Amino acid sequence: MRQVCLLGASGSIGKQTIDVIKKNPSSFSLVAFSVGKRTRQINYLIKYFPSITHICVQEKKAYNKYKKQHPNITFYYGDDGLIELIKNSHNDMVVNALVGFVGLKPTIVSLKLNKIVCLANKEALVVGGELVNKLLDEGHGKLYPIDSEHVALAKCLAVDDQDVDKLIITASGGAFRRLSRDELTHVKASDALKHPTWKMGAKITIDCATMVNKSFEVIEAHYLFRYPENKIDILLHDESMIHSLVLYNNGVYRLDHGKPDMRIPIKYALFEGLTDFKTVVVKDYHVYKDYHFRPFDIKRYPIVKWAKFIIENKGTYGAVFNASNEVAVHAFLKDEIPFLMIEEIINHFMKNHQNIKNPSLEQLIQVDKEIRKETRDYIERSKR
Ligand SMILES: NC(=O)c1ccc[n+]([C@@H]2O[C@H](COP(=O)([O-])OP(=O)(O)OC[C@H]3O[C@@H](n4cnc5c(N)ncnc54)[C@H](OP(=O)(O)O)[C@@H]3O)[C@@H](O)[C@H]2O)c1
Repeated sequence: MRQVCLLGASGSIGKQTIDVIKKNPSSFSLVAFSVGKRTRQINYLIKYFPSITHICVQEKKAYNKYKKQHPNITFYYGDDGLIELIKNSHNDMVVNALVGFVGLKPTIVSLKLNKIVCLANKEALVVGGELVNKLLDEGHGKLYPIDSEHVALAKCLAVDDQDVDKLIITASGGAFRRLSRDELTHVKASDALKHPTWKMGAKITIDCATMVNKSFEVIEAHYLFRYPENKIDILLHDESMIHSLVLYNNGVYRLDHGKPDMRIPIKYALFEGLTDFKTVVVKDYHVYKDYHFRPFDIKRYPIVKWAKFIIENKGTYGAVFNASNEVAVHAFLKDEIPFLMIEEIINHFMKNHQNIKNPSLEQLIQVDKEIRKETRDYIERSKR
């Protein structure tokens, strides 16, 4: 029985993780969770899971309110509260379903404490992949990704990781996949939030439309499976039914096929890969005649060039890519900037950054802080 601490319980992955835990009560016990500003389900979760002893909220006001209502539960708040939650709740597994940079430190702390980490928060690997892998190499923590593409690759590689030519990550292309670059000039946040195949949180949905998400996933695959950038490809696949593929040297593919439902990769991660699964071997993925495949086009999605650059240069470039994107996406969601300015902002900060090699967590936090401020200034200047 795993004692689970769930970070980001109010989000899309968080709620689906709760579904998986509810369906498997003899394998998982929810002992702690965090929410951000959406506090509505706290009372419900406490009632449903009497095993809960520790909770973290984002804001002090909510902390004061719920602490009074539930004197038998230990409450925390803020970024430091997330760390206290991990340290003090008696858990052996941390599911990190936070969105954004805020997920980095909890991942590092969990691994330092030798926890099993199920990681949906891909930003942690994009920014701190080097630190994460160092902790995995030196310590006894474990890391299982919660991303449909990476779980697909993990399944394929668990069956056969010999003579691998390429890891191929599939991409639906996001909400604007039918539009040319010229047509992207006037798209709005409300249009971008209509993802064709997945229902997800707002930030990742925009990241899918810009393809920043696919850039993140290439970097994530590099750190998770330790393949060089030239061994990781992207394939456009409209239906999101094939979650990723491994191409072997003899030209054969192994792939993971199934409906787009995040509960499947969440379950795989929570069971540490020890669940029933099937992979399929094909000579040519076009045997799936009803599905559409197109080669990845870097001219249509130029932002993905930064994935290769970040893998090659490492250091603080991942932090710059992530921080400028996070701030730009939030501005786009508030209709403050046009869609294509997200790309413009990322390009500007990536081109002007002085890389710091082998950064510490503190240096990553500092770079994140600086780039956030500079990005906000850039956006304000653009409004004048
Ligand atoms: N959704 C998917 O299908 C999917 C698939 C693959 C990977 N992922 C990755 O999984 C992660 C979560 O995605 P999501 O779609 O579940 O996002 P989401 O729906 O926006 O949920 C994010 C969670 O993080 C919490 N949070 C955000 N900022 C916080 C802060 N400063 N302090 C404390 N808590 C904070 C939110 O709290 P409140 O909402 O209560 O404020 C919420 O619980 C992302 O890294 C995403 O890229 C998602």
